Order: sequence, then C-alpha cells, then structure tokens
Amino acid sequence: LRTQLNNLPLKNKQVVVTAGGTKERIDPVRYITNDSSGKMGYSLAIAARDLGATVTLISASRQLVQPFGVAFVQVDSAKEMQEAVMQAYEQADIVVMAAAVSDYRPSNQAVEKIKKNEATMTLTLDKTTDILAELGKQKQHQFLIGFAAETNNLEKYARGKLKQKKADMIVANDVSKPHAGFNKDTNEVSIFMADEDPIELSVRSKQEIATEILRVAINQMKK
Ligand code: CTP
Ligand code: CA
Repeated sequence: LRTQLNNLPLKNKQVVVTAGGTKERIDPVRYITNDSSGKMGYSLAIAARDLGATVTLISASRQLVQPFGVAFVQVDSAKEMQEAVMQAYEQADIVVMAAAVSDYRPSNQAVEKIKKNEATMTLTLDKTTDILAELGKQKQHQFLIGFAAETNNLEKYARGKLKQKKADMIVANDVSKPHAGFNKDTNEVSIFMADEDPIELSVRSKQEIATEILRVAINQMKK
C-alpha cells in the first residue's frame, strides 16, 4: 500500500476539470448548446482522481454518471461555469478546461415563452467571457490545460490559443475525424506546449487519452 501511495503523482494536488457543453437560455423552453457530451472531461476527472488528486468536476453535462470520489458542481450556462471555476481557482494546482463553453449567449433572455409571429426572427447574441483566457490573465502557480476543437489548420489555431490564453498546454482534436471529438468514446489528439514539438496521441479510449494528458502535464510541471 505504501508503494502504491508513493506512486500517486498527483497526491496533495487540487485538480479542477470542466466538462460538457454549456446551455444558454433563449426563453423558459429553449436554449443554445453544442454537441459536447462531457465524456472527455469526465474521463479527465477520473484519471486525476486515480493519480491521487483531489478533484472538482464542474459539469455542464447532465447525461453522465457522476464519478465516485470527485467533488461535483452542476452548472448550465457559461456564466455559471465561470463563477464555479473562479471560486475554485486559487486553491487549484491544475485546471483543465475540457468544457465546450458557448462563445455567445442571447443578449436578452425572455421571461415568457417567445410566440411565433413574423416569418423570420432575429436573435441577437453577446460574446461570453473566455474563461480560459481569464484564468490565463489571473494565473499565479496554476498549470492551465485548454482544449481546441478544430476542423482545419489544427496546429496554427492550437498554438494561437496557447499563446492568446496563456495556457501551459493545448490539447487539440480534429473533430472532423471519425474517432475523435464530440460524443465519441475514443479520441485522437495533439498536445501543444510552448517551445516543444507536438505530442501526438493516436486513437484510443478517452480514458487512456485522459491519463496520458495528465502524465504529460505532470512531466512538464517538473521542468
Ligand atoms: N473556452 C473558455 N471560455 C469560452 C470559450 C472557450 O474557457 N468562452 C476554452 C475552452 O474550454 C477550451 C479553449 O477555450 O479549453 C478553446 O476553446 P475553442 O472553442 O476551441 O476556442 P475559442 O477560443 O472559443 O475559439 P473558436 O471557437 O473561435 O475556435
Ligand atoms: Ca469556441
């Protein structure tokens, strides 16, 4: 047992993971969301727990089983996710933004159900806060892991996000590939860090990808 405990590289570390696609309300019966299932985030929370961390999972997904031994915060909107992440940030050693945060929210949320009237209608949207970029701005000791879902120019966009958001690592996936991305049980990713060649993880289960991502992060944090 002692050797097992000593082999837990995230022992005494606090890991915060976000998961799922946020929901932005239009009215009491309608919302805007995206195809994220939350599986990658939940796999990361489980992997962090199994590596010995104290884990907080901030989830916009409601369709998956809550992992055992993980503090769980249910959210819906990007705003709620932002508040939950900020609350956990100071104590955190690693933050993993695996959530697909809505980029825009309806400018006005109708209190009552919107009735159909005209032949066309226009929804006006406002940009949400970029949570990862905000974490980057306020970064002290934390190690920040972001994701990048892309359909083209993977490396260019991923390295752009790494720099602009001041993340320590960007895990990029090509969501147009059949074994990667939204709502799959497998993934295939490229890990980008400043001044390093990308680390390519070929197709495997999201659980295996999650453990590998954290192992790469642990190595990087030692440098
Ligand atoms: N992200 C975030 N807050 C947002 C939008 C995105 O924290 N409002 C985070 C995601 O959780 C992810 C990273 O930023 O870790 C990249 O998300 P992605 O959607 O790929 O990139 P964006 O910066 O939103 O740019 P775009 O969607 O235009 O590619
Ligand atoms: Ca986005």
